[in-house]
Amino acid sequence: MNDCPILPTADKLKKGILLAGGSGTRLHPMTLAVSKQLLPVYDKPMIYYPLTTLMLSGIRDIMIISTPDDLPLFQRLLGDGSQYGVQFTYRVQPSPDGIPQAFLLAADWLDNSPCALVLGDNLIFADHLSTALQDAAQRDEGAVIFSYQVKDPERYGVISFDPMGKLCDIVEKPEKPPSNWAVTGLYFYDKRVLDFSRRLKPSWRNELEITDLNRFYLEDGKLDVVKLGRGCAWLDAGLPESLLEASSFVRTIQARQGLIVGSPGEVAYRMGYITGQQLHDYALKMGKTELGRILLNLVASDLKHGPMS
Ligand code: G1P
Repeated sequence: MNDCPILPTADKLKKGILLAGGSGTRLHPMTLAVSKQLLPVYDKPMIYYPLTTLMLSGIRDIMIISTPDDLPLFQRLLGDGSQYGVQFTYRVQPSPDGIPQAFLLAADWLDNSPCALVLGDNLIFADHLSTALQDAAQRDEGAVIFSYQVKDPERYGVISFDPMGKLCDIVEKPEKPPSNWAVTGLYFYDKRVLDFSRRLKPSWRNELEITDLNRFYLEDGKLDVVKLGRGCAWLDAGLPESLLEASSFVRTIQARQGLIVGSPGEVAYRMGYITGQQLHDYALKMGKTELGRILLNLVASDLKHGPMS
């Protein structure tokens, strides 16, 4: 998220879903009245971070899915997307029936396109992330998932590898994890995603499972995994301690480097979705915040020296 070369936008994959549903029970009472994905991660609403992940992939046609109560709040926060040079479509998830339900809800909008999906509480920071994302977005066929080593894999979908190091299985929340490699909440699928999603059956927890969708691709020999290495950070902000960790992480990077993490305005500018003037107008709306000041400095410095890569 902290790198952002101005690359040509992905030709093949142009649609992405940002799933910001769920009841956030693991964050109660913080989420009794407010959606989890609207809680602050240091100085921005949580949803800004996964949104920038999609934007860095070159995706500009984005559907935001949330609960009937919360969707109007996301609309108030994000509008139609024009301030970021992207287009937002909003859709209600009437009940939380699992991650791949997003594709069923979006069926008409998908219109047989490939599609990426990011979970609204997943934050990914990595050097050269935009290159890896755009590479995944440009694949013609199959699915790409991202994996990260964690010390508590039993909380996630977990990957196992054969002796040659090739991905051979994925299991959801295993009691005895076959490895420490968790599947992050960022997925890129080809146009078969809707057909595969329609074939899914609810699991023991009565939800459609993203792991089962990934297994369709795996069985077809068309699932690739990108391992996020040591220099990367993947944080999910679903627990009080992980929410605090994510905030501290963002604060540390921003304070130390004077760079912004997770600003859709900045990413839109660096990706060439908006002009310097538009970023300037956007920054003024941030008032006298650190974020506003850094964005204004960015525009001023580009005017002086030309855009940096
Ligand atoms: C979901 C997926 C899991 C994935 C995780 C990433 O878990 O089911 O495979 O590893 O997101 O955040 P859940 O949020 O349903 O616990």
